[in-house]
Amino acid sequence: MINLAVLVSGSGTNLQAIIDSIESGKLNARIKIVISNNSDAYAIERAKKHHIPVFIIQDNRFPVREDCDKHLVEILKSHAVDLVILAGFMRLLSRAFIRAFPMKIMNIHPALLPAFPGLRAQKKAVEYGVKFSGCTVHFVDEGVDTGPVIIQAVAPVYDDDTEETLAQRILKEEHRIYPQAIQFFAQGRIEIRGRKVIIKNQPKTEGVLENPKVEI
Ligand code: GRF
Repeated sequence: MINLAVLVSGSGTNLQAIIDSIESGKLNARIKIVISNNSDAYAIERAKKHHIPVFIIQDNRFPVREDCDKHLVEILKSHAVDLVILAGFMRLLSRAFIRAFPMKIMNIHPALLPAFPGLRAQKKAVEYGVKFSGCTVHFVDEGVDTGPVIIQAVAPVYDDDTEETLAQRILKEEHRIYPQAIQFFAQGRIEIRGRKVIIKNQPKTEGVLENPKVEI
């Protein structure tokens, strides 16, 4: 059983998917603490409902981000956290924080990295005119959305999509792949070779997708 910390800033639907996977016995982990940098985040309500301790970062208490992150590292270590989960956490982490948990921080990004890193990835996908986008769970390194990829799910992009409709379609897949990525870690099935993340004993995904449909 591994100990998680989940860092949030907003609605917390990914947090909820992780909680649900734990409660249904699909994910062998426990959430030791939820940390939010936004005191109004709905994610906080979700955590409280499930009796998970919540810590709210008050950025104004720490004018220097590094000092705040040092404090966070202390909190995480004192809870014996094995894996840090960024779930819609809208604040950059300092180098010191990332180095305190090397390849032990996961993030979810709503695009097929390395396409469309950074903010508003779904809007960028719609505007670019790609036919597929999706989501990526990756380890966090010192770049923005650049760490080794653990799992991706593909979603089609339709001609009439808006940023919102695409975001909804992708979010559904986020809720499937994030608990799975954490479970791979909990099972000790992740091996990192350079940029590549190998999942041990995984059958190959078969088949290809096309969008629009090939009709001939
Ligand atoms: C998700 O789209 C995630 O990919 C991005 O932020 C959003 C968080 O949503 N990093 P939620 O707070 O989990 O509902």
